[in-house]
Amino acid sequence: MFTMMKNNFKDSEHLYLSWTFSKLIAFFFLLVSVCYLFYSLRFVTHSYDCEQQNPLPLVSHLAPSIDYAIEEIPKPSFDETNISHIVFGIGASAKLWKQRKEYIKLWWRPNQMRGIVWLDRKVEADSKDKNLLPPLKISEDTARFSYKNPKGHKSAIRISRIVSETIRLGNTEGVRWFVMGDDDTVFVTENLVKVLRKYDHNQFYYIGSSSESHLQNIYFSYNMAYGGGGFAISYPLAVALEKMQDRCIQRYPGLYGSDDRIQACMAELGVPLTKERGFHQFDVYGNLFGLLAAHPVTPLVSLHHLDVVEPIFPNVTRVQALKRLQVPMKLDPYGLIQQSICYDKRGTWTISVSWGYAVQIFRGTFSPREIEMPARTFLNWYKRADYTAYPFNTRPVSRHVCQKPFVYYLSGAVALSNVTKSEYVRSGSNPECRWQMQDPSQIQRVEVYKKPDPHLWDKSPRRNCCRVVPTKKKGTMVIDVGECKEDEVVEL
Ligand SMILES: *[C@@H]1O[C@H](CO)[C@@H](O)[C@H](O)[C@H]1NC(C)=O
Ligand SMILES: *[C@@H]1O[C@H](CO)[C@@H](O)[C@H](O)[C@H]1NC(C)=O
Ligand SMILES: *[C@@H]1O[C@H](CO)[C@@H](O)[C@H](O)[C@H]1NC(C)=O
Repeated sequence: MFTMMKNNFKDSEHLYLSWTFSKLIAFFFLLVSVCYLFYSLRFVTHSYDCEQQNPLPLVSHLAPSIDYAIEEIPKPSFDETNISHIVFGIGASAKLWKQRKEYIKLWWRPNQMRGIVWLDRKVEADSKDKNLLPPLKISEDTARFSYKNPKGHKSAIRISRIVSETIRLGNTEGVRWFVMGDDDTVFVTENLVKVLRKYDHNQFYYIGSSSESHLQNIYFSYNMAYGGGGFAISYPLAVALEKMQDRCIQRYPGLYGSDDRIQACMAELGVPLTKERGFHQFDVYGNLFGLLAAHPVTPLVSLHHLDVVEPIFPNVTRVQALKRLQVPMKLDPYGLIQQSICYDKRGTWTISVSWGYAVQIFRGTFSPREIEMPARTFLNWYKRADYTAYPFNTRPVSRHVCQKPFVYYLSGAVALSNVTKSEYVRSGSNPECRWQMQDPSQIQRVEVYKKPDPHLWDKSPRRNCCRVVPTKKKGTMVIDVGECKEDEVVEL
């Protein structure tokens, strides 16, 4: 047995040696030919040098002596993008129109915004909606297109073509961006404008965000802007898309939705997704609290799947809850649900503010890197998948009963002379805790003072700071939120 192995080894050793020898010879010839190639290229470059004409790109690569002018990209010069430069295209269905239109009414501003709701068939007009909704249109017939996804619905083709149909209607004067959304998408308009303002609308841009489900992103694509979270296409890109979309759609009959069809065409056009993390598809179930209480440091642009998740405030309907969020949204849209983290002065509690939404008080001190992670109050879109199936970090709601946060939800907000005052009241109850530490249950309400900051997103992204302000008000915590002062860091 042993000898056999040894013999085998010898054989392979012999093979190996002869193999390396032939490699050496081959390498030698390769070296000679590479030298010859360089030698001959020298002649080529020299001849071009003399003529000083159209150097071949390949040659100029190899011969650094040739100057080629680097084209200077001119800086964009245009006035700031505002709401009048955006055209919305809302994909809707007649079947769900009655309930879904209430979401559109929440954010639609009839006299300022441009856009169309695209339906599959006529719906009954309701006099109560008069002037509260965008104009309605019936999409073109898509019978001629093939749809072969066994799980999806053919309406995907209709919805995918909204951008093209909008362009073909004409009347696009002054349009810089086409923004797509579903009938259950709620936009925070000021933030949408703020995000789009960063980009030159004269160039090709496809802007949106991915799913909260890693499996969804694998199944569809990490390069896709999820339609429910909404996405923006710059005007010239929309024009380019319109020219090829109907042909493009025919090439992908097996895709599932409207947004993957758009992405397939974007890939053909060679335009990647520009990711903006404030667009929220919200492919989750359950309670959004964890995600909204620890939003990334970027403007909140949209919310979606609001029928699927619980109302964002407890004990009210979904639409009532969103209406409540609009109160702080009007006072200081850029600061909406932005997080700040601080400690009370004894350092016994950690406080996390999600401005305009909720305040949490935790017993003990947690580092900012823990508190800025969303707590898993929500469930995965694939219900059997666990926390490893999110494409971002999450943390458990608490590791010990004493660490379960005390939660205070927004009850109202007002503008004072130069600050906003928002109030948050305690919700729910906490399990009994035997820690020898002051109990936050004495705090029934939290008052937060914050100066609106219209330039929050014109600076490099940074979380605001919060400070606990001493007060004599019983059962109340007072917090000041604002730009961090010099040398102010969240540390104990
Ligand atoms: C938006 O910008 C245009 C210039 O492009 C300007 O004429 C218009 O008044 C602005 N509208 C608003 C609402 O600011
Ligand atoms: C829910 O709302 C109802 C009526 O508005 C009120 O009576 C009840 O106390 C509320 N429950 C909670 C847990 O806030
Ligand atoms: C806010 O207004 C009050 C009086 O209305 C004034 O005393 C205070 O200095 C102002 N604060 C800031 C930061 O402007």
